[in-house]
Amino acid sequence: MPEITFVKSALPKAGALVVLLAEGGNPSALHTALDEASGGAVGRALEAAGFKGRKGQSATVWAPAPGISKLVAIGLGAEGALTPDGAEAVGGAIWPLISAETEATLAADGVEMPVAVRVALGTVLRSYRFDLYRTMEKPEDKPKLARLAVAVDQPMAAKNAYAPFKAVAEGVFMTRDLVSEPPNILHPVEMAERCRALEKLGVVVEILTPKEMKKLGFGALLGVAMGSAIEARMVVMHWNGLGSAPAKGRAKKPAPAEKPICFIGKGVTFDTGGISIKPAGGMEDMKWDMAGAGCVVGLMAALAGRKARANVVGLVGLVENMPSGTAQRPGDVVKTASGQTVEVINTDAEGRLVLADVIHYAITKYDPKWMIDLATLTGAIIVALGHEHAGLFSNDDVLAGQIEAAGKATGELCWRLPLSDAYDKQIKSDIADMKNVGTRAGGSITAAQFIQRFVQGRPWAHLDIAGTAWATKDLPTAPKGATAYGVRLLDRLVADHFEG
Ligand code: BES
Ligand code: MN
Ligand code: ZN
Repeated sequence: MPEITFVKSALPKAGALVVLLAEGGNPSALHTALDEASGGAVGRALEAAGFKGRKGQSATVWAPAPGISKLVAIGLGAEGALTPDGAEAVGGAIWPLISAETEATLAADGVEMPVAVRVALGTVLRSYRFDLYRTMEKPEDKPKLARLAVAVDQPMAAKNAYAPFKAVAEGVFMTRDLVSEPPNILHPVEMAERCRALEKLGVVVEILTPKEMKKLGFGALLGVAMGSAIEARMVVMHWNGLGSAPAKGRAKKPAPAEKPICFIGKGVTFDTGGISIKPAGGMEDMKWDMAGAGCVVGLMAALAGRKARANVVGLVGLVENMPSGTAQRPGDVVKTASGQTVEVINTDAEGRLVLADVIHYAITKYDPKWMIDLATLTGAIIVALGHEHAGLFSNDDVLAGQIEAAGKATGELCWRLPLSDAYDKQIKSDIADMKNVGTRAGGSITAAQFIQRFVQGRPWAHLDIAGTAWATKDLPTAPKGATAYGVRLLDRLVADHFEG
């Protein structure tokens, strides 16, 4: 991750200089200084390039002044129209233009501080790379920029404002690393071990083995794991930051003596479908089927990393869904930790089985104020919403509204879908308390209805992230691949509604 430093505005002696310009806006002092140092060549070059500061527009002027390798001008669109959220996309657009440099300065003098900080965050988020398994890449093809100096009017204040975002970016990168790892490396046992990295941030990490889960009656989660040669795990990560000092610059409010909130993630490290096996084409994508769990782990890293004043428990159910002679069969009846029984009609509807037991555990052990689960649960949510919104389901209108708002504020959008008894009827079973699939109609909703049967009427929300957990093309603040959808959204939700 490139290091962000905030410096006083002065012309750099070397490297690239990035300037931001609104349509019809005035250039920053640094921009003007460089133009003067170039004897007016910068202004003439930008004019000749037709650079007007339109949104999404950029122009490069090579070697504009002694020592300076290039000037990159980025358009912000209409003057004053840039929101902090839009600022991240601007920051993201900067990265590919400067990543090959060894030094770069971003002229954010004259830009409002919340905007400058979010531009820097956008650049950092866009810089993510997962190159652990590339052994033949030439050094010249790798990005070189290790540090970005951001020139602002008040460097100390900007540094403090950026600090929590840096922790969030680290959480996002942790999630992306986990989700990107191949399934032979990142199996349930390995993923559980990686959660231990949170201990150095002050998170209490507890790993439960199949023996312990059997005692707890986790028949649904363990049923999914039956076909795999690798053991299942549940990881519980507890961050209680109620004693933490409030963030700098924030008014000290009394810490709420609160019950915890719980985040629960589906962690299927590979989903073959089990005996109800998936078709071969595209099956490799099912390594991402632990993205809900990956998000919970990165979220805990973000919250602990910025010392959030909140009591939060993250729980992930980790299994591999494989077909084998020991795999569960369609027609099996399993008993969940809640005592409710499930007829497993389709072994490929495994995520809800995992979540059922972990959610029950979260409720009985932690009595949460509210809980949110994240899961790459259904292909049907991609049919409904594509890759632009995650599916949101909730039994609590206030919580749902807060989640939608946090999504808009961070650009991680979600769209609420309904729940009702009519859908719930679809999962009645002839032999057990319920079956694990309905019909094809409303597949994402019946999946959510299944989960709702385990929340005991408590405030709960479910995010179906099957369409948003990874991207097949570059996004403004994420290269293609794992997006870490949900880390920013839920961090923001905690910050806005749950911190003292
Ligand atoms: N992990 C899949 C859902 C999924 C599909 C995620 C495509 C990302 C992309 C889930 O376990 C699954 O297989 N769901 C089934 C449910 C069906 C059997 C009721 C599905 O969506 O087809
Ligand atoms: Mn499946
Ligand atoms: Zn799955």
